Amino acid sequence: MPETPRPASTSRRRNPGTQREHPHVILGVTGSIAAHKAVDLCSQLTRQGCEVHVVLTAHAQRFVTALPFRTLSRHPVVTDLFHETDAWQPPHIALAGETDLLLIAPATAHVIARLALGLANDALSCIALALNPHTPLLIAPAMHAHMWLHPATQHNAAILKSRGAQFLGPESGLLSSGDHGIGRLLAVDVICRETLARLRRTPPKRRRAK
Ligand SMILES: Cc1cc2nc3c(=O)[nH]c(=O)nc-3n(C[C@H](O)[C@H](O)[C@H](O)COP(=O)(O)O)c2cc1C
Repeated sequence: MPETPRPASTSRRRNPGTQREHPHVILGVTGSIAAHKAVDLCSQLTRQGCEVHVVLTAHAQRFVTALPFRTLSRHPVVTDLFHETDAWQPPHIALAGETDLLLIAPATAHVIARLALGLANDALSCIALALNPHTPLLIAPAMHAHMWLHPATQHNAAILKSRGAQFLGPESGLLSSGDHGIGRLLAVDVICRETLARLRRTPPKRRRAK
């Protein structure tokens, strides 16, 4: 598929030595049946000019593999908190420090609970904790209606909203269980559009001070 040029809408004006040309986005993918849709999301964000760094939870990898994300984003995919790299800095700290935005799509009930509690038991939750407090966190939930409407999930979502997280969806419709209700992942092009809009309102990250 030919690569479309980076549009002016998302490109960053380069201020030599201080700012980057393209926004950096971490796309966290969790263990939902909707995880396959994150492949398209990764592709759309990349084609819209973002540098996309994908992080897959262990349970996301029961639904999708790193391969399509690595190929479409042109970056390595984080699949393991303890994966060794040549860099001295732990990958989750380096990624969290460099990113302009963390988007979790699809977000399970479990990751919403982990983030609300501040747990740090995998790469994605460590990145979420290590983010600069001003870095936007966007969460696109996907789950069965009963899971979304459960008081525990609603409470966890309210905690994250009170800390500044922005929720994208979920929307109502036919669920993978065959039931109708709220819990569907918002359409990928809407998530992409909202992410780009949020990036435009966020000052680009300056290069980390040495
Ligand atoms: C077939 C299948 C589909 C699932 N879909 C969802 C889902 O859409 N949303 C959700 O919150 N959990 C879903 N789960 C449960 C999660 O995979 C489970 O809570 C897991 O621990 C999430 O881990 P993670 O958040 O670290 O990726 C599903 C489980 C199975 C077996």
